[in-house]
Amino acid sequence: MNRPAVHILALLALLHTACGDDGGGGDLDAPATDAAIDAATDAGTDGGFVQPTMLSETGLYSDISSETIAPGIVEYVPRWELFSDRAVKRRWVYLPPGTKIDTSDMDWWQFPVGTKFWKEFTRDGVRIETRLIQRIDASNDVSSWYFVSFQWDAEQFDAIAVPGGVVDDPGNNDIPDRSKCRQCHQPSRNRSVILGFGALQLDYVATSDGMDLERLVTEDRLTMNPASSNGGFFPMPEVGASDPTLPALGYLHTNCGGCHNEFSDVKNTVNVELRLTTAAGDRMSWSTTRPWAFVLGPNGTGVPAQLSGSGSHLVLPGDVGNSAVHARMNSITGTKMPPIGRETLDSSGLDAVRLWIESLP
Ligand code: HEC
Ligand code: HEC
Repeated sequence: MNRPAVHILALLALLHTACGDDGGGGDLDAPATDAAIDAATDAGTDGGFVQPTMLSETGLYSDISSETIAPGIVEYVPRWELFSDRAVKRRWVYLPPGTKIDTSDMDWWQFPVGTKFWKEFTRDGVRIETRLIQRIDASNDVSSWYFVSFQWDAEQFDAIAVPGGVVDDPGNNDIPDRSKCRQCHQPSRNRSVILGFGALQLDYVATSDGMDLERLVTEDRLTMNPASSNGGFFPMPEVGASDPTLPALGYLHTNCGGCHNEFSDVKNTVNVELRLTTAAGDRMSWSTTRPWAFVLGPNGTGVPAQLSGSGSHLVLPGDVGNSAVHARMNSITGTKMPPIGRETLDSSGLDAVRLWIESLP
C-alpha cells in the first residue's frame, strides 16, 4: 500500500485546478465561454460546491479500496451506448432522496439539483478513467452543471481529477478536457445535459437490479409517469426480429442525437436531426420518426447533404458511399462524426447503419 503517493497526486491536481487549465484543444466548435464557466464553478457560487480533486470525494464509493458503491447509487445501462473506441463502460446514477426528475417534457428530462452521474472506462481489465456530471445549482444553463474526469492511478487506489484532460494516456484512451465534455453535454446542444438516461434510453427491461423506466415509475421518481402500453412505454413501429431499422436509428439516437436534434445549436449549421422522440405521432411509422424524415425526406428518396465531401446525400437509399451519415462515421479525419471522442472506426455501428441503408427501397 502506497497511500502517500496518492496524496501527492491530489496536491498536484489542486494546483492544476487552480491554474484553471481547461485545455480547450483548439476545437472548431468549442464554446466561447469556458473561462467564465470555470470561474463560476471555481468560486463555488452555488453556495458551497467545491470541485472534487479525487474520485473518492465524489460519493460514488462508500469504500473505494473494496470498490463498495455507496447506498442510494444505482448502476444502469442505456439501451443504446456511445461508442468509445471499444472501452468497456459502467455507469451509475444518484438522485437525492425525495427528489424527482421533471418529466413534464418526456423528451427532455430535467434533473434535480444534487443529481450525480458517473461513467467508468476500462481497457484490458484496467480502469482508466471515471467521469462525473453533477448538477450544482438550479439555474438552467451550462454553469449549473459540473463536468470532470478522474484518471485512475497505477495502483487503482483512487482516481485524480484531470480538468485539462489527458492525451494518449496508457491504453491510448484520450481523456477529454472539460470543454470537450460540454461540446457533447451542454444544454444548448442537449436540453437534458444527460445523454444516456431518458425515456427512450430506459424503455427496455434492465437486468434484475439495474435501472429502467418501469423501476423509475414504481419508485415514484418521475413528476409525470408515461403510460405503459404493450411492448414497453414508447414502442417503435412494428418490425420483424431481423429488421435493421431500430438498431440503426437507436445507434444514431445515442451517438449523434445529442448534437443533431431540434433544439441544438448545431442545427443552425446543418439542418439534421438524428434523435428519436417519444410523441406518438413521431412513432406511427418509421417514415414519421424525426431521424428518418430528416435524412430521407417526404418521398424517402434522400435529402441532399449541405456540406460537400462526404457523399451527395445525408442518406441515399441503397448507396452507403453517397450517404454522408455513414461516410462520416466511416472517417477518422476532419470529417469524422462524432467530431470528438472517437479515434477508431466502430465496425459494428457502421454495419448497423449500412444494413439499414442497404435495406431501403
Ligand atoms: C463525443 C461526445 C461526448 C463527449 C466528448 C463526452 N461525453 Fe459523456 N456521454 C456522451 C453520450 C452520448 C453519453 C450517453 C451514452 C453512454 O453512456 O454510452 C454520455 C454519458 C455520460 C455520462 C453518464 C450520464 C449521461 O449523460 O448519460 C457521464 C457521467 C458522462 N458522459 C460524463 C462525461 C464527462 C465528464 C465528459 C468530459 C470529460 C464527457 N462525458 C465527454 C457523449 C459524450
Ligand atoms: C459534438 C457534436 C456532434 C455530434 C455528437 C455529431 N455531430 Fe455531426 N455535425 C456536428 C457539427 C458541428 C457539424 C457541422 C460542421 C462539420 O461538418 O464538421 C456536423 C455535421 C454533420 C453532417 C453534415 C450534414 C450535411 O448536411 O452536410 C453529417 C452527415 C453529420 N454531422 C452526421 C453525424 C453523425 C452520423 C453523427 C453520429 C455518428 C454525428 N454527426 C454526431 C456536430 C456533431
